[in-house]
Amino acid sequence: MELTEDAKCDIKETPSREEVESKDETSPCGTDQTKTSVARLLTPEEMEKSSGEQTLVSGFKQMKLEKEAQKNWDLFYKRNTTNFFKDRHWTTREFEELKAYREFESQRLVLLEAGCGVGNCIFPLLEDDLNIFVYACDFSPRAVEFVKRNALYCPERCCAFQCDLTKDDLRTNVPEDGVDVVTLIFVLSAVHPEKMKLALQNISRVLKPGGVVLFRDYGLHDHAMLRFKSGNKLGENFYVRQDGTRSYFFSKEFLAELFEDTGFQTVANDYVLRETVNKKEGICVPRVFLQSKFTKPGPSHGS
Ligand SMILES: C[S@@+](CC[C@H](N)C(=O)[O-])C[C@H]1O[C@@H](n2cnc3c(N)ncnc32)[C@H](O)[C@@H]1O
Repeated sequence: MELTEDAKCDIKETPSREEVESKDETSPCGTDQTKTSVARLLTPEEMEKSSGEQTLVSGFKQMKLEKEAQKNWDLFYKRNTTNFFKDRHWTTREFEELKAYREFESQRLVLLEAGCGVGNCIFPLLEDDLNIFVYACDFSPRAVEFVKRNALYCPERCCAFQCDLTKDDLRTNVPEDGVDVVTLIFVLSAVHPEKMKLALQNISRVLKPGGVVLFRDYGLHDHAMLRFKSGNKLGENFYVRQDGTRSYFFSKEFLAELFEDTGFQTVANDYVLRETVNKKEGICVPRVFLQSKFTKPGPSHGS
């Protein structure tokens, strides 16, 4: 759906994170979402706006942001506690494959949620499926603490730990080749593009051959990307929010190359387009996500 002219005029300011992402401010305009293999085309106005925005944040500030990435995420959870992101009930719906990755019905599925935040993805899964063990890590100590304090957390079914995916070897907490499925949900976008491969190599070491990475994150030309001002631009498709956390917006080509260079095989890689309503502004805005699936070569699961 095209935005009305009025709505386009309303999009002026760099949004606060809450305006674009929080559960209180956005909800779907309709139930539909469209999967497509082609990137969303910019409108002429959007094209004009983005072609004028070339000033990048200074190198000094960029280094500071990289150094303080963990601190900034931890402060994010200090401010928002568990109240920011919605429970991601769609994970089970969208990723039916989670169940298909069992070789036999009674098999306990082992999952790693990399960059788990406060557990919005894992707790709905644990609620839905008793026969699952979840490793969950995040580099914000506060987020990990919130996960451990959740009423659904129990050591028989979960193991949460603090870890920087780009630095700390996951094998300290997770057995090598020990995980059937890794979920990587709105996490890689928070990592500097030059360090994304390090995170994927780390994940690959704990994933079983034949295991799968389920990925969902911000896609190229998402509404949140177009609302950043030039003063927030760190590099191509890479921006910093007001709170110092960063966000990359993925093209499917960039993502496929990243995974394939790390030894994964692409199984699915599509844009998901949907409209959400920004309640504060009363307009529908176009959201673009990238939803993908990659396997680590080896004997296939569920066959
Ligand atoms: C947008 S939240 C998503 C949380 C969760 N996956 C979900 O779906 O609700 C992004 C998370 O990635 C974590 N993160 C960012 N960079 C990381 C890194 N290098 N290592 C581990 N976690 C990281 C942040 O602390 C934050 O909790």
